[in-house]
Amino acid sequence: MLFDTLPRPAIIAHRGASAYAPENTLAAFKLALQQGADGIELDAKLSADGHVVVIHDQTVDRTTPFHGKVGDFRVSELRKMDAGSHFDITFKGEPIPTLEEVFKAVGQLTYINVELTNYASPLDLLPEKVAELVRHYKLSHRVVFSSFNPIALLRIRHLIPEAPIGLLAFPGIKGGLARSWPGRFVRYQSLHPEVKDTTITLVNRLQRRGCWIFVYTVNREDEMWRLFDMGVDGIFTDDPLLAQKILKQYRRKASQSREEISR
Ligand code: G3P
Repeated sequence: MLFDTLPRPAIIAHRGASAYAPENTLAAFKLALQQGADGIELDAKLSADGHVVVIHDQTVDRTTPFHGKVGDFRVSELRKMDAGSHFDITFKGEPIPTLEEVFKAVGQLTYINVELTNYASPLDLLPEKVAELVRHYKLSHRVVFSSFNPIALLRIRHLIPEAPIGLLAFPGIKGGLARSWPGRFVRYQSLHPEVKDTTITLVNRLQRRGCWIFVYTVNREDEMWRLFDMGVDGIFTDDPLLAQKILKQYRRKASQSREEISR
């Protein structure tokens, strides 16, 4: 299982190294690896013809020059859309990747958090299609599945029981149930709360039960310091370079304090 080998705290590149390259593209995933991220996070959903594509929003409006719901386009149409120029013109022509392309390109090189984002069509075949690809590329020891939708998680666990599932909690009050005991009916291996909702009480409560805690989306230095100090198991960040720098500083400071205490 991924959690046996993933470094702690893990630095997971949120939609790839999305501070430096267009989110959810191969360019962002490859860059995250070059920058030394421990893993990548991506958003999976289905095209109109049932292919798993990697894009965050339910529509293509924000990240491509086109308009409309992702689920209304065929994969051949989505593949032709420019998902790079909205970030920077130097990425012009960077396509919306399929999950298969991501698995082929980086699947054996890193850990992958696949968020099941079929929120607009919760009963579609996304879990089955993702599971098929994970099996085909023999990646069940390299993936964690996450979702705000507990049903999608229960379905994929049934298909790939050896891979961990992580329940995403909405920010604030909306995520209250997921963060407390009702969320436990999912029997998740990890909880993924928003950075502002992460407290030492929550970290301790989860870790006492043997669960992991991965926090999203952590881009500020002070938040990184606070979370490393709490002992979270990982963070999702747009900026893996910054997170590594802060983790190094944090470790140096922590070892200095230990030396001072033992003197
Ligand atoms: O998986 C962490 C984070 O990506 C969840 O929020 O909005 O980026 O899907 P969002």
